Amino acid sequence: MNKRIRELKAYPMDRLNRAKEELRRKGVKIYDFGTGDPKEPTDERIRRALCEAVPEVSQYPTVKGRRDLREAVSNWFKNRFGVEIDPEREVIPTAGSKEAIFHFPLVFLDTDSEKKRVIFGTPAYPVYERGTLFAGGIPHPVELKYKDRFLLRLDRIPKSILEETAIVWINYPHNPTGAVAPISYLEEIYGICRENNIILCSDECYTEIYFKEPPPSLLQVGKEGAVVFHSLSKRSGMTGYRSGFVAGDEKIVQEFLKYRSSFGVASQDFVQQAAKVAWSDEEHVRKRREIFKKKAEIFDKFFREIGLEFLPVKATFYFWVKLPEGVSGEDYALHLLNYGIVISPGEFFGKGGEGFFRIALVPTVEECREAVEVWIKAHKEFKL
Ligand SMILES: Cc1ncc(COP(=O)(O)O)c(C=O)c1O
Repeated sequence: MNKRIRELKAYPMDRLNRAKEELRRKGVKIYDFGTGDPKEPTDERIRRALCEAVPEVSQYPTVKGRRDLREAVSNWFKNRFGVEIDPEREVIPTAGSKEAIFHFPLVFLDTDSEKKRVIFGTPAYPVYERGTLFAGGIPHPVELKYKDRFLLRLDRIPKSILEETAIVWINYPHNPTGAVAPISYLEEIYGICRENNIILCSDECYTEIYFKEPPPSLLQVGKEGAVVFHSLSKRSGMTGYRSGFVAGDEKIVQEFLKYRSSFGVASQDFVQQAAKVAWSDEEHVRKRREIFKKKAEIFDKFFREIGLEFLPVKATFYFWVKLPEGVSGEDYALHLLNYGIVISPGEFFGKGGEGFFRIALVPTVEECREAVEVWIKAHKEFKL
């Protein structure tokens, strides 16, 4: 077995899924706020586009992808962020953003050099660390603090570490905390990365799930040394399609493109045709935002009522909730599990997650209302 990954624990969501399966076998009604995979149907036009695009003979797709999809992405980006992306040189479709995030360090880390650290905030989506380890790099997790609104503060990292760093990952709006970064923050972190010759990667898969102000993109600040990762999973409810894109610095995008054929992750042609329809329409995204807003309102009220502290949710479909001193996320999650409520203990997302839990607004609005009733009882019966 690969020695770099021997130390890794099971992918945390796998453990949660096993516990859920057991409950299901016992016939308990489950309210699943665990994995961030909402159940709202994909817009009918997108589904139809996929079906109509399935050909009689389906041949290998190219890693560069369809020109019309790259153009649709480029138009969307211009309308949404006011930034021009050259559809020929500065964007490539991906099979969802996870694989692209995972594979990125395989191309951009030189394990023989001194510069092989990868900095990311923690708690975090686990793939920044996993991709780094599989690529033979040195993960450099930095604990994100509630008092900093969970912004990764590179300005506090010693210069000697920054000099050894090849890649920095940021992810705003943030999973698991829901934190949003203002453009001034992006400017600051971009400046530090440029000074230290670090590639700044911005995982932007939640920028479209917002309730008031649309969050910014890193590419509004600069392109050189910057790469953004976008996805249709959350924006358009297309987790099963596996579709996203990478865009940014032409040199980096072209280098990534060159080696991606080794990974076997070219997006299927019919998925790309559905993706083109998805990036070309905002109405279905607006409707999705309305639904998540309703769910967020239910839980905003609920957590206030039971007196738990949380960062008010402005974007993403996550609540990151603080437990009273001395209570672990795991104990609370195990207690709720007995009532059929599945949440993710903060520890699942790495250091800094202790004493918190995350809920993903996955069940329907109606189920969220029901779950709150069950949760009130469960919370009262929990010995704080
Ligand atoms: C922060 C973050 N990045 C990336 C992804 C991957 O999304 P996908 O591969 O479906 O595009 C997720 C999925 O939950 C996520 O939370």
